[in-house]
This record gives sequence, C-alpha cells and structure tokens, in this order.
Amino acid sequence: MADIFERLIKNYGPIGQHRERAHGYFAFPKLEGEVGSKMKFRGQEMIVWSLNNYLGLANHPEVRKADADGSAQYGLALPMGARMMSGNSDLHEQLERELAEFVHKEDSILMNYGYQGIMSAIDAICGRHDVVVYDAECHACIIDALRMIPGHRFVFKHNDVEDCEKQLLRAQALVDKQQSGGVLVITEGVFGMAGDQGKLKEIAALKKKVPFRLLVDDAHGFGTLGTTGAGAGEAQGCQDEIDLYFSTFAKSMASIGAFMAGPRTIIDYIRYNIRSQIFAKSLPMPYVVGNLKRLELLRSKPELKENLWKNALALQNGLKERGFDIGKTDSVVTPVYMKGGVEEATAMVMDIRENYKIFCSIVVYPVIPKGHIIYRLIPTAVHTQEEIDLTLKAFSETKAKLDAGAYKVAEIPDMANK
Ligand SMILES: Cc1ncc(COP(=O)(O)O)c(C=O)c1O
Repeated sequence: MADIFERLIKNYGPIGQHRERAHGYFAFPKLEGEVGSKMKFRGQEMIVWSLNNYLGLANHPEVRKADADGSAQYGLALPMGARMMSGNSDLHEQLERELAEFVHKEDSILMNYGYQGIMSAIDAICGRHDVVVYDAECHACIIDALRMIPGHRFVFKHNDVEDCEKQLLRAQALVDKQQSGGVLVITEGVFGMAGDQGKLKEIAALKKKVPFRLLVDDAHGFGTLGTTGAGAGEAQGCQDEIDLYFSTFAKSMASIGAFMAGPRTIIDYIRYNIRSQIFAKSLPMPYVVGNLKRLELLRSKPELKENLWKNALALQNGLKERGFDIGKTDSVVTPVYMKGGVEEATAMVMDIRENYKIFCSIVVYPVIPKGHIIYRLIPTAVHTQEEIDLTLKAFSETKAKLDAGAYKVAEIPDMANK
C-alpha cells in the first residue's frame, strides 16, 4: 500500500514545484509596514498594486481606532460560541440589519469568511433535485461549493447570455423530468481576474423565459460600484432582480468576514441551516465593531469611491494610451495582458521590483494558458498621481524589454528566502 505522504512530496503541485526558487519572492512574499500605496518588501519601499484595499480603509484612522477599541473592549474571545448556541450579540444583529439596508435587501446573515461562507450557503440552499447553472469563470469558492452539492450543475460560457439561456433550458428540462427541484443561477458582480462585470441585467431578464433564482457574488463590486456603493446590481439597475446578494469584507472593507443578503424568509432559512456558521464560533466582536465602522464610512464618505475611480481611470487610460491591452475591464480591477513564458514573466517581475520599486502580482501558466502573462493591478483610493505616473513609465520600459527578448532566461531566478 502506498504512503499518501510519499506521493505528496514527489509532486508539490503546479506552483509548489517552483517553491525552492520562488518562496518568499514570487510566492508568499511579505509586505511590511503600514498598509498603503507604499509598503516595504525585503527592506525596500515599493509602490504596491496588489492589495484589495480599494477604498483605502485598511489604514484609515477611524477604522484603526474602531479596530483597536473593539479589541480593547471585547478581546478576541467574545462571543463565546456559535451564533445559534451562545455566540449571538446585538452588534452582530445590528451589522446584519445595516448591511441588508445598504444593499437594498430585507435581511442579511454574517459569515466568518467569504470562501467558506458562500460554499456553505450554497450547500444549505441546494437540495438533491435542484439544478445550478453557473458562469465558467466563477471564483474557486463557488466551484468548490458545486463539488459538495448532490444535484446537477450546468456551466455556461463566461458571460455568454445566450449560452446561459441554453443551460437554463437544459436545467428546466431536467427539473421537469424529475418533477421536483428548482434552478439557481450563480454568477459574479465583477470577475476578479479580468475585471469585467457579470451581465447581471441580461441574465436576470432570462427569468421571463425560465423561472430561476439568482445568486451573485459581488466581492469586487460591493463598495466600488453603483451610486451608493451597493455594487454591480445597483450599477446595472437590477439589484432587485438579485435574489441572494453576497460579498466578502475582504475587499473594499479591508477586513475579514462576509455576508449574504436577501428576502427575510430565505435568510432565516440559511441562518438555521448553514453548517459553516452553525458548527463554528461566530465572528469575533472586534471584527463586528470594525466592520460596523467600515460600513459607516462606505455610507458617509463617497469621496473614497470617487478617489478610487479617479485613480483607476488614470491608470487604465494611461495604460491604454501606451498601447497596453487591458481587456474588457469595466471595474477598477486592472489586468494587463502580455505574452511570454513563465520564466520570462518572473524575470520581468524581478526587474520591476528591484529596479523600479513597484510591487505587483502576475498570473501565469497553469492558472492561465501557456505563453500568456497577466499583471493584475488593484488601484486604491490612496494611490497618488505620481505613483500612477511612475508605474506607467515602468510598464512602458519593461514591456519594451520583454518584446526585445531581454527577459529570456533558462529558468526561474532563484530568489527564495534562504
Ligand atoms: C469573488 C470572490 N468570492 C469570495 C472570495 C472569498 O472571500 P474571503 O477572502 O472572505 O474568504 C473572494 C476572495 O477573497 C473572491 O474574490
């Protein structure tokens, strides 16, 4: 009989195989110092484009004070248990009410993390005869949820409304044949890699042809899109058509936790059936206090979203003017598409970090097809025009070097922490 561990250490996986050269630099880097548009990486100050700190709240003085006050008053111990048993509090319920109001829904439920929260919510909602129709580029947490549920699922081509309709008709036929079950469509408000908004309005309009319920993961739209920041549904004028609205606090709230909002009856059903919350200790009090403050700032400081968009558009327009391909983004997420191998990409990232003092993340094979490189830039409300200009200059220069073959190296540079 084989030893499971033996197999694991023979193959560390697609990214893990590079760990000996990459650890601490290309993977698991440590950014240090106060969170902001500049942080320290290996002792050097760099302009950072990798943080989901859209509104710049991570280091906002009022947020820091609320986080500190919440910790001083309650510590991390409280509440002492799962919500259902002994871990409920007025502040948890207040945050749920305020979140629901903010996204124009009747009620909401808190979750400790977005990833496990949405997985468990989908698990709670879907019975064995229900059918899920979902976008091919949904986040890993949705894909993993679909591995758990007992019913059928049909995938539609990314943001392809025609294909979505086709899959809906298949789902409807199956439900009719079973004479039991319903259909849940799952998509995203903003796709976090490419930055394109899910076609929520067009998908919701398909309800006229096939009855279904719509669940939207709006992790990147919450706080960044819509007149009040209520997200992609608000921006597209179809928030009411979203039956279940989900967001993590890990992006524009620069925090931890998540929520799902919708009709009171359904949220109550989830509250009493979501295993990740029923069988786990609830969100710690300092997080709840800190999240209440963040939500207050989302409501009261529209200038945060305005600054974010000013910076995002300056960056995106600057890249386009310089001939860069930034794909189909219609959010602040800014991908930059280039061509090159994995080794070349790592040499280019090294150059941009070491010589231009710019820290940004790249995505390469096997996450995307071989021969492609995507830089993924996350602008925030706290970046400056000077930082944007320096970044644009660095991108122009390094792209010219990439095209001239200057980064062609035989293997990934050895930059691991020794
Ligand atoms: C679209 C999307 N959904 C869910 C999550 C998971 O949220 P969390 O980090 O709170 O687990 C993420 C990433 O954070 C995300 O980008």
